[in-house]
Amino acid sequence: MNETMNTILTRRSTRDFSDKAVSREELELLIKAAVHAPTAMNRQTFRFTVLTRREDIDELAQAIGKTLGREGYDMYKRAALIIPSNDRDSLYGRDDNACALENIFLAAQSLGIGSVWINQLHGICNEPEIRKLLTKYEIPENHVVYGMAALGHSKSGEYRKIERTAQVKIF
Ligand SMILES: Cc1cc2nc3c(=O)[nH]c(=O)nc-3n(C[C@H](O)[C@H](O)[C@H](O)COP(=O)(O)O)c2cc1C
Repeated sequence: MNETMNTILTRRSTRDFSDKAVSREELELLIKAAVHAPTAMNRQTFRFTVLTRREDIDELAQAIGKTLGREGYDMYKRAALIIPSNDRDSLYGRDDNACALENIFLAAQSLGIGSVWINQLHGICNEPEIRKLLTKYEIPENHVVYGMAALGHSKSGEYRKIERTAQVKIF
């Protein structure tokens, strides 16, 4: 099997992150993978914000937890967070950001870094406490976040078993 297929078939969502950091060099590679994702009509309206200080990510996780009524929400204690955002009026912004996220997840897998999609900002970006933090990280007021990439290294290297059950027909 070629390396790309192997990366796709072995990627899994990590939810038990260790304390080990993700290096700046690795994060730059992940962003490179993200910006090479396809975008509708090549508009490239997405933006990527990377948080590496644990206290910053914890602050965001706490604000999310408070907004959603999920006390103790901690985004799995990940080491780094990539926040793709997009112009709320961009017709395909959500699709573009999803393509970028998958590129990030696959690139992370190829580098031996664990990742998981974090969906909790979706729909709450304009809650005052959340928007204040997004603004702190220079995310434009007209941008929304659909999904984020939590990153780090798996403590156990173990993943729950998942069957792939999609229906497929090839004619
Ligand atoms: C749109 C979307 C939203 C997701 N949101 C979350 C989330 O908020 N938290 C989480 O732990 N996993 C989230 N996931 C990850 C899925 O639960 C995971 O991909 C699925 O269970 C299959 O497992 P695998 O990634 O290990 O193959 C999300 C995935 C997608 C595509």
